[in-house]
Amino acid sequence: MTFRAACRVGVSLWLMLAPACAGDAPARSAAEIMDILMWNRELVGGPFELTDQTGHTRTERDFRGKLMLVYFGFTYCPDICPTDLQAIGLALDKLGSNAASVQPLFITVDPERDTAEHLAQYVPMFHPRLIGLTGSPEAIRRAADAYKVYYAKVPLGKAADDYTVDHTAFIYLMDRDGNYLGFFPPGTTADRMAEIIRPRLGEPAR
Ligand code: NI
Repeated sequence: MTFRAACRVGVSLWLMLAPACAGDAPARSAAEIMDILMWNRELVGGPFELTDQTGHTRTERDFRGKLMLVYFGFTYCPDICPTDLQAIGLALDKLGSNAASVQPLFITVDPERDTAEHLAQYVPMFHPRLIGLTGSPEAIRRAADAYKVYYAKVPLGKAADDYTVDHTAFIYLMDRDGNYLGFFPPGTTADRMAEIIRPRLGEPAR
């Protein structure tokens, strides 16, 4: 996560443009998104329909009965994403066999480069049960909006594929019905994640 809070274009302009480029333009700034999360101002989570690293369609309903650990990022992210994904994988290992009732999800905010094939190379590096999800720019934008995730492309050079993606990097914990329980901030250790998740594993699956 390279983090820039500044909104690059005025809010009214984004609102005007929003229907035309829903896949590209963040509707709200990173600061607005963080404010929503910090003070629980809006619901977090919701339905999604995306494609996993094996090419199969996945929706949030596939994971009912399990806790979901949901993380948005992108595979070219040089720093925070791999660190957080490593912590998620390690936390699952620490939970042992009980971790079977926790489903970790990695949803890309860079669907153009993070194809299913590309995710298939990436997610197993962190945990064998980590599911990578991609989709159309519009489907990704909808999922990110539902989870109150900010992301925006930032060009690095002149070539169209030479860019990075600014994004918020909270790790969301959802209950067995898909309801939001809370978030882990970026950089949370595997030990702390396991400590918070462990008491929830005793809950009966519905
Ligand atoms: Ni990142």
